[in-house]
Amino acid sequence: MSAVPVAPPRRLLDAEVDGVVVRVPEGATILDACRDQGIDTPTMCYADNLTPINACRVCVVEVEGARTLVPACSRTVEAGMKIRTDTDRVRHSRRLVMELLGSSVDTSLASSDWHRWQDEYAAAPDRFGAPTDPMEAGERDRRWAGHHHGSPDPSRAETVSQPVKVDNELYVRDYGRCVLCYKCVEACGTDAQHTFAIAVAGRGFDARISTEYAVPLDVSACVYCGNCIGVCPTGALMFSSEHDMRAAGTWDEDRQTVTNTICPYCGVGCELELHVQDNAIVKVTSPTDNDVTSGHLCIKGRFGFQYVQRRKKDRT
Ligand code: SF4
Ligand code: SF4
Ligand code: FES
Repeated sequence: MSAVPVAPPRRLLDAEVDGVVVRVPEGATILDACRDQGIDTPTMCYADNLTPINACRVCVVEVEGARTLVPACSRTVEAGMKIRTDTDRVRHSRRLVMELLGSSVDTSLASSDWHRWQDEYAAAPDRFGAPTDPMEAGERDRRWAGHHHGSPDPSRAETVSQPVKVDNELYVRDYGRCVLCYKCVEACGTDAQHTFAIAVAGRGFDARISTEYAVPLDVSACVYCGNCIGVCPTGALMFSSEHDMRAAGTWDEDRQTVTNTICPYCGVGCELELHVQDNAIVKVTSPTDNDVTSGHLCIKGRFGFQYVQRRKKDRT
């Protein structure tokens, strides 16, 4: 007999996606229905382990009878709904969102899917101007200093003009890569950690992710679970190990292997994915479809891996 409670059966609904009748359980989103049909839908602010927040609108589709395009990641399917995913209007809107995001921040470290979608939709972010170059951190420091001493540059959004924040040994915050997708805020809040160490501060061009009163992480409420890093889609939040290796030019995902194991620290039994390069663990994640973690970890599982690497020669 299974010890896992079985959810009550859900009513099935019929709808149409691109002219094909689909049957999905009540509560399924349009994105779910599209995925069932093998329809590739671009997303940025959506994650399987977070509540949809509708921040980016890159996933929009057309629904017959609706005046505006609707976000596939959060809109639930209704019986009889007629959905179109590949119209000129949808493609135009998705492309424009990609271009606006890509022109406002550096998305070069976003997922390979994101780059594939950019190619597929022929997105050309450069037509809105180049994003801040991540290698120009010094330049950003100067602009930030100028901005906060009476010479604001109104052409620059607050979030991307910040210097890279290195205020602890575990992870780095480079908001020059932040698309304000809110995923980190959700992971830090009610979707996973319930710590509420970060939120969106400011509005419009001033909007940016911040700790309370913009204090450094070590004096904020942050407990260093790293769940925000786990969900960040652009590399704005990054393990210090990865950040340092990228800066040194040694980060190479082609040379990395991923080994799944169980966290050794306590009886919860979280599943870990150890990313290993040159026989050293370089970062730790957890599968989003894991029943125990849903991709989220605590500080020990996420960052407490150095002891594994204390080889004999280091201990003498
Ligand atoms: S490390 Fe954890 S507690 Fe700290 S900001 Fe990220 S999600 Fe919040
Ligand atoms: S730091 Fe990352 S997860 Fe947080 S809002 Fe920016 S892009 Fe999204
Ligand atoms: S992925 Fe749907 S609104 Fe961002």
